[in-house]
Amino acid sequence: MIPLLLSCFLVLPLVLLSLQWHHSKAKRLPPGSMGWPYIGETLKLYTENPNSFFSSRRKRYGDIFKTHILGCPCVMISSPEAARIVLVTMAHLFKPTYPTSKERMIGPEALFFHQGAYHSRLKKLVQASFLPSAIKGSVSEIEGNVLRFLPTWKDTTINTLQEMKRYAFDVAMISAFGEMKELEMEGIKHLYQCLEKGYNSMPLDLPGTPFHKAMKARKQLNETLRTMMEQRRRSGKQGGGLLGVLLGASDEKLNQLTDSQIADNIIGLIFAAHDTTASVLTWVLKYLHDNEDVLAAVTREQEGIRLELIEANRRLTWDDTRRMPLTSRVIQETLRTASILSFTFREAVQDVEFEGYFIPKGWKVLPLFRTIHHCADFFQQPEKFDPSRFEVPPRPNTYMPFRNGVHSCPGSELAKLEMLILLHHLSVNYRWQVVGDEDGIQYGPFPVPKQGLPIRVTQRKKPAF
Ligand code: HEM
Repeated sequence: MIPLLLSCFLVLPLVLLSLQWHHSKAKRLPPGSMGWPYIGETLKLYTENPNSFFSSRRKRYGDIFKTHILGCPCVMISSPEAARIVLVTMAHLFKPTYPTSKERMIGPEALFFHQGAYHSRLKKLVQASFLPSAIKGSVSEIEGNVLRFLPTWKDTTINTLQEMKRYAFDVAMISAFGEMKELEMEGIKHLYQCLEKGYNSMPLDLPGTPFHKAMKARKQLNETLRTMMEQRRRSGKQGGGLLGVLLGASDEKLNQLTDSQIADNIIGLIFAAHDTTASVLTWVLKYLHDNEDVLAAVTREQEGIRLELIEANRRLTWDDTRRMPLTSRVIQETLRTASILSFTFREAVQDVEFEGYFIPKGWKVLPLFRTIHHCADFFQQPEKFDPSRFEVPPRPNTYMPFRNGVHSCPGSELAKLEMLILLHHLSVNYRWQVVGDEDGIQYGPFPVPKQGLPIRVTQRKKPAF
């Protein structure tokens, strides 16, 4: 009995100690600073350059660190493998999260805000509408838009970002609705522009505020979309674009979608498609302007294709756009260098054990893609604009401008296609000079060159054709 009691006295504390150690090890939060009470490190993030905010903490604490911004405790992640775990392997534990005001403006039933069965049902429908086989047919319509836009730029100074927004908006409309009447399109465009003005405003729903005006425009958009759905249903034709696909699906018993689910996803698509593509295109023009040798090489590639088109007396086709390897690498490198979506916002849906750390339920989790895209371990001389680096594929998980996993971008092929078509005509026929000497970046909401890159466009001196 005595040896038994003795061993209990000796062993029990050791067992308890070990359990306690295991517990505290399991509950180890990532290293980092939570800053001041309530405001956390928000002021530091906004007063420092965001890139140096992230990189200085990465240097001090490693690839996974905690901080506190915009009233939320956050874990930031800058290792490609850990980012993949959040987006792919353990995606069910990290839900996408957006401010409530954004959800109200876009529409709470848009797919970005959801996980699980509803999300995957919608995602399949949206993805099917943007597969290469589905967008092949839009080449001539997109090219038609380019041919209408470009001559209006000649011998004028344009705001690149604003013009690219016009172009990307029109392409988004084609993909949302297919063919539509000019008047109908103008009506939707006007309402969407009113809505857009509220996106980055204070979410104050009082008469006269930009947010209130935006919400009013959102309601009117709903009415317009409902009328369109009614007309298409009555005519017995679902019509083109994503609207046609979603109307078709809502007729099937299994897929039943309500009108507001359809409307939210149409507005969501326009939101996702247009500022993103316009910002990237603005950077493409900036990089080509600053790198004359790259512009000359792109022009040579595009002139080769132009010559064939002239000889065969035909317009651009999908297959032509697959034969633009150098121009495609320029787009790839722009997506890396500009990294317009610097990070992705997720939230832990439960307490999570993650790479040896504890992430409490409700904490925000942010994979930092700009930091990964600018890490010298994966991209030599990361600040240099060098499309040739994509002659060899990047290391797995280090390059994700469209992300990976359940919420990856379904519009990546369309975005690349509209950029290639524009670059074909622009490089062959025009040249552009940046106006003013203001270098730098502005956020609106994505990082873009200062003042939206004002440029003066001229006809190319020696057009080959
Ligand atoms: C260069 C332009 C674009 C970039 C850089 C881009 C990037 C992205 C990224 C990074 C995401 C994932 C966001 C997250 O994980 O939280 C995303 C999602 C999405 N994108 Fe894009 N995108 C672009 C253009 C487009 C276009 C043209 C469309 C539509 C035609 C589109 C439709 C969507 C949709 C619907 C989602 C939500 C997917 C989901 O939640 O399952 N995007 N995009």
